[in-house]
Amino acid sequence: MLGKTLFSDTALSPSGTVSCATCHDPTKTFSDGLSQAMGVTKGDRNSPAIALASHARWQFWDGRADTLWMQALGPFENPKEFASSRLFVAHRIAAGYAADYATVFSKYPLPDLADTTRFPLAGKPGEPSWQGMTTADQDAATRVFVNVAKAIAAFERTLRVKPNALDRYGAGDLTALDAAQKKGLTAFFKTGCVQCHWGPRMTDDAFHVIRFPTGRQDGAADRGRADGIAPLQASEFVASKKFSDSPLSAKSLLGLTPAATTMLGAFKTPSLRGLPSSGPYGHGGTFATLAEVTKHYGERGLKHDDTRSIGATEAWVPLFDANAQNDLVPFLQVLASEPVP
Ligand code: HEC
Ligand code: HEC
Repeated sequence: MLGKTLFSDTALSPSGTVSCATCHDPTKTFSDGLSQAMGVTKGDRNSPAIALASHARWQFWDGRADTLWMQALGPFENPKEFASSRLFVAHRIAAGYAADYATVFSKYPLPDLADTTRFPLAGKPGEPSWQGMTTADQDAATRVFVNVAKAIAAFERTLRVKPNALDRYGAGDLTALDAAQKKGLTAFFKTGCVQCHWGPRMTDDAFHVIRFPTGRQDGAADRGRADGIAPLQASEFVASKKFSDSPLSAKSLLGLTPAATTMLGAFKTPSLRGLPSSGPYGHGGTFATLAEVTKHYGERGLKHDDTRSIGATEAWVPLFDANAQNDLVPFLQVLASEPVP
């Protein structure tokens, strides 16, 4: 399957060392176990476990992609991750995948990439090699790039996880949770976790400010959604534009306002499936253990004068004591999300 192979092909990175699987390792619940992601250099955020990402309304901690395929374009041209470019990727497809590509994307035959005067070996918007191309050739190269992302997204959509103890408990097996885990489940409701972490993936797919610490290498607070909206609205790859297969079904992005105070320091509520194996936790990957996370919640996040985070913790997130903080942990530990092979 094309997307599955591309997902772990390091030849798509000029260094020959990075693939999607570098940071989303199938043997590590499709994450990497690191605080911040490590591509060609160290990044600023934690790599999410992505087995269930295909069900999410937004992609990335700041939601700067509105489809799974749009998300998959980002890592290639991110200088800290693949440090690749759409022209480089297109050439790798012509060299290694021409037949498979032609079968899957028969509607879009590969352009004549052998002509490197028209299609330089590397380049992306903003770089001289790219700016020298005709608009038609740019579109043709971008189309290959987009199709690579769509093949990868198709693979991601096949990922499934096995039921965990909470699923068995919900299905009526009252012995699936022990006493400590049941106490934790009660605390999960009482302390209000369930207001944002609910449903099959235990997320509301929305953005909230809980003042988790930054993971940025420069130490500055991560502004989250406040910085994610503008790139999203400006991108040529959103679901409403020409590279989309269903532009008419796309939701409008016009109502999103990056300047809204509720967006400053807001991050997407992550799925809690996979917690036992997806640490470290938070957008910055700064909490090594779940006990540190529940302590953070019990204190309503970092204090407002702490520069490691920004924005105002949502008013109704409650304070709760060390007993409740401890009670939550055994429950969070049952939320395994073992991928189905
Ligand atoms: C260098 C490590 C690294 C590589 C390589 C990488 N990712 Fe990621 N991935 C991350 C990090 C870190 C994030 C969160 C980034 C952010 O929110 O700004 C992320 C986010 C995602 C998300 C969104 C998940 C969510 O819950 O929001 C998906 C899906 C994903 N990556 C898939 C991919 C695919 C597909 C590839 C290959 C094309 C890839 N990643 C390559 C580290 C990586
Ligand atoms: C107002 C919505 C909201 C509430 C209430 C809430 N969360 Fe969260 N949760 C989030 C958001 C948003 C994040 C991401 C925060 C960040 O990284 O900045 C998050 C992150 C987490 C993480 C880290 C997951 C990971 O993969 O990194 C855990 C664990 C967690 N929450 C557990 C809880 C528990 C336990 C409670 C109850 C005490 C709770 N949450 C209450 C929205 C919420």
